Amino acid sequence: MTDKFYVTTPIYYVNDKPHIGHAYATIVADAAARFHRLMGDDTFFLTGTDEHGQKVAQAAEAAGRSPSQHVDEMVQRFQSSWEQLNISNDAFVRTTDPKHTRAVQSIFQKLFDQGDIYKDAYEGWYCLHEETYWTEGQLKNKKCPECGRDVERMTEESYFFKTSKYMDRVRQLIEDGTFEILPAVRKNEVLSMIEGGITDVSVSRTAFTWGVPLPFDEDKVVYVWFDALINYLTGVGYMSDDESFQRFWPADVHIIGKDILKFHAVIWPAMLIAVGGEEFLPKTIAATGFWNLGGEKISKSKGVTVDPNELTAEFGVDAIRYFFLREIPLGNDGEFSREALIRRINYDLANDLGNLLHRFVPMIEKYCDGVFKVPSEIKPIVPGQADAPALIIDKMRSLDFNLALQLIWEHFVSPANKYIDDSAPWALAKEGQQEAVERVMYNLGESLRVISILLAPIMPATAEALWKQLGQSGSPMDKKLPDDVKWGGLEADTKVSRGAPLFPRLEE
Ligand code: MSP
Repeated sequence: MTDKFYVTTPIYYVNDKPHIGHAYATIVADAAARFHRLMGDDTFFLTGTDEHGQKVAQAAEAAGRSPSQHVDEMVQRFQSSWEQLNISNDAFVRTTDPKHTRAVQSIFQKLFDQGDIYKDAYEGWYCLHEETYWTEGQLKNKKCPECGRDVERMTEESYFFKTSKYMDRVRQLIEDGTFEILPAVRKNEVLSMIEGGITDVSVSRTAFTWGVPLPFDEDKVVYVWFDALINYLTGVGYMSDDESFQRFWPADVHIIGKDILKFHAVIWPAMLIAVGGEEFLPKTIAATGFWNLGGEKISKSKGVTVDPNELTAEFGVDAIRYFFLREIPLGNDGEFSREALIRRINYDLANDLGNLLHRFVPMIEKYCDGVFKVPSEIKPIVPGQADAPALIIDKMRSLDFNLALQLIWEHFVSPANKYIDDSAPWALAKEGQQEAVERVMYNLGESLRVISILLAPIMPATAEALWKQLGQSGSPMDKKLPDDVKWGGLEADTKVSRGAPLFPRLEE
């Protein structure tokens, strides 16, 4: 039986175009999805856009458009950015899709009917940016404790979701690891939030109309977070494609940013237990850190931004994907700079990986007419190579792409480069030791073949290019981990085919 794997990204607000902060979670999720497909798992990868709420309505107004015109236009920017980044999502969910809004209404109704949503009056301080009410005591210097912006005094009739009712159970499930929160620092953060007391969440709004109308009170719309979280259900077929929903739910991992932890690790599990019981909980919430620029969080609203499309146009998709996954462990903050990016491209990609291929292909052409011959003895070039794939797979499974990449370089890329120098095939050729030359060429080709498959989740286009230059048939994407990275799988008697350099060196 194959395993299944369902991974999601946050759904992005369409009030602005994507920046690399958004691209990051999407790249992490894409690498995870591609890795699981290589493992042979039945995989579903969802991303999408969060299109309701006051922020979006205001952005539309500022642009002189209706909210629906605005979201239709903005969503394309996300879709085209993800295409440029080679993102392999299986579906793209939009919260304005009637399939989604119908399900939101139905869940709202269900929770109301079972007494988990109740009506009350609300008086408090409202932060427009966070779309959240705060009590007097929660304010920081009379401002929003989350974003520091001004808050307004508001009183309104509102519906509340009994979040507090589920907190003991959620805490237990987090503590015993059934509901996993990564990294550990975030798990502790959630546990202390719960410890500090969780109040029931107001899940309706009256101040604006751009949202899902309440099923039984059309003057109100559903709170944007209650609406948005449900995307993870509707995007995989909840109430529209039962076969798909049964096959993939519960989600295996929700990749999110650390700023939206409370919604995913406190409110969402409470909602899910209310909707479908504990079996409905996702297995893991993995929270990423922030990318900063000059020490400040990248954020369009603060004017600190980097456009992923400009980066891919200048440096190529795979260099960008590699940089983000190699530079920091998941969960840490990262500092983005052109210098750091160019350094990674020059050292890791041009010098180490690119050079390995560009030294190798002309050599096998010169000494062996470009054709691999199977040597009499097939064995890895350095000890440890036989065990390395299992380690690398393990790291990828736990979303630790940073370490996985380090291990690929340590066990395959660097040893192969060193092996060229140590075995000096040009000298062997001069001495007429053709069999030895063929063995060296086979071992180098085999190193590159294994590298190509292991890199496929992270740098899919590079993996393909490598594969083609090696003259192997099929595609690294169609291979199966771990079987196909066992040493000795190189297809022999095929001819290499020289191609363009993978990563030209850049001016530093
Ligand atoms: N719409 C909500 C998410 C709803 S999920 C049910 C939202 N959208 S957002 O567009 O503001 O942010 C989406 C994600 O991008 C968040 O996880 C946030 O952490 C992430 N990032 C935004 N800026 C970031 C960086 N500078 N660095 C890394 N990720 C950051 O929140």
